[in-house]
Amino acid sequence: MYMLNTPLRHELDHYETASRDEIAAMQLSRLKWSIQHTYANVPHYRAKCQKAGVHPGDLKEMKDLALFPFTVKDDLRQTYPYGMFAVPLTEVVRIHASSGTTGRPTVVGYTQNDIDMWAGLVARSIRAAGGRRGDKVHIAYGYGLFTGGLGAHYGAERLGCTVIPMSGGQTEKQVQLIRDFQPDIIMVTPSYMLNIAEEMERQGLRPWETALRIGIFGAEPWTNAMRGEIERRFGIDAVDIYGLSEIMGPGVANECVETKDGPVIWEDHFYPEIIDPATGAVLPDGEYGELVFTTLTKEGLPMIRYRTRDLTRLLPPTARSMRRMDKITGRSDDMLIIRGVNVFPTQIEEIICKDPTLAPHYELVVTRDGYMDELAVRVETAPAGHGRTRAEQAKDLRHHIKSFIGISTAVEVVEPGTIERSQGKAKRVRDLRPKA
Ligand code: DLL
Repeated sequence: MYMLNTPLRHELDHYETASRDEIAAMQLSRLKWSIQHTYANVPHYRAKCQKAGVHPGDLKEMKDLALFPFTVKDDLRQTYPYGMFAVPLTEVVRIHASSGTTGRPTVVGYTQNDIDMWAGLVARSIRAAGGRRGDKVHIAYGYGLFTGGLGAHYGAERLGCTVIPMSGGQTEKQVQLIRDFQPDIIMVTPSYMLNIAEEMERQGLRPWETALRIGIFGAEPWTNAMRGEIERRFGIDAVDIYGLSEIMGPGVANECVETKDGPVIWEDHFYPEIIDPATGAVLPDGEYGELVFTTLTKEGLPMIRYRTRDLTRLLPPTARSMRRMDKITGRSDDMLIIRGVNVFPTQIEEIICKDPTLAPHYELVVTRDGYMDELAVRVETAPAGHGRTRAEQAKDLRHHIKSFIGISTAVEVVEPGTIERSQGKAKRVRDLRPKA
């Protein structure tokens, strides 16, 4: 939008521009290695294969992947902490873990080759976003067990950027560093970026006057409407970075700044499938379903057909030779069923962002009345004097939700600053239904 930065062909990695035939051949040979490596070294997955009556030798062509059993988060829980690792712990140079909302954390491990591959793919991601050697990168993803901070950090260094390893939180300090160190790029969750914008405005600074040129946003679902909001406010290009710890961390897929048409999946390292979440059947490209990944090169924690629970569809290549994914609609776990209608927070976000008199700070509160789930939307009014009453705003929003999504909701428009601000991943849904 502001400063399109299309990389020159010779700057790209080989497979970013290779032919589809070449990519397919490379994927099949890497897939054979990955399945053999997992089968030979992860007893838990081998047992699943034996139960399903399938052997690595059965993989003759790409479509045979569908014969192999899925891996799910529960497999990692059952084998906690290291049971899914495919190398001896002495070969593991890094551990990350995702806290999860319930139960044991999910533990992931990387060999030195895995860390190098990850850094290379995050470097590729930053370059796709328009970043170049010499850019200053402010990293406000959390450092620590979360993969966001360190994943971004190694990638930015690999590209030859100057890294400002700020981590998450301490919003006043974030603003001070953005003002004084003048980063070109920020890597942060989109919800926390809005929090930073507010802190700047509170200090009398204008977000569009910073040196920032590019924002690389991910770790949580966000809409194109939110992209518009952030780009306008900061005068930057906002691109989408996708990833998950079980597969690697940030940089499994990243959007290209010149097209902004959904993250390009780095298919030379991760093979994507879309499945019907109810039956497990593989769906053709273009159809919506659950995203499943098979790692092609990972040594420490290879994953065969890992069910991400993220809902999206696969799209044909545009700016690169690799396929894209549509922006994530939501996670199957976040899907609300309100009187029979499936609703995702992103659908509500899209509608909220269209009303300039509302601020993009919202939460969804789910309650149960008898057997019926009820949804209430709490959203803040925009601070500036827009001359509309909160009752009018609420009435309009209720109407738009009813006509676009088809459900009746209670809408409460609240004062600026009422909704809890995120420091990392935003929590959009407050579920007050009695626990089963
Ligand atoms: O969130 C890795 C990451 C860090 C990605 C920084 C991007 C930037 P986890 O904590 O394991 O890893 O959470 C992974 O977050 O399955 C999605 O549900 C969600 N998610 C990640 N990126 C996006 C995105 C990191 N761009 C889970 N859009 C995933 C929508 C995303 N959802």
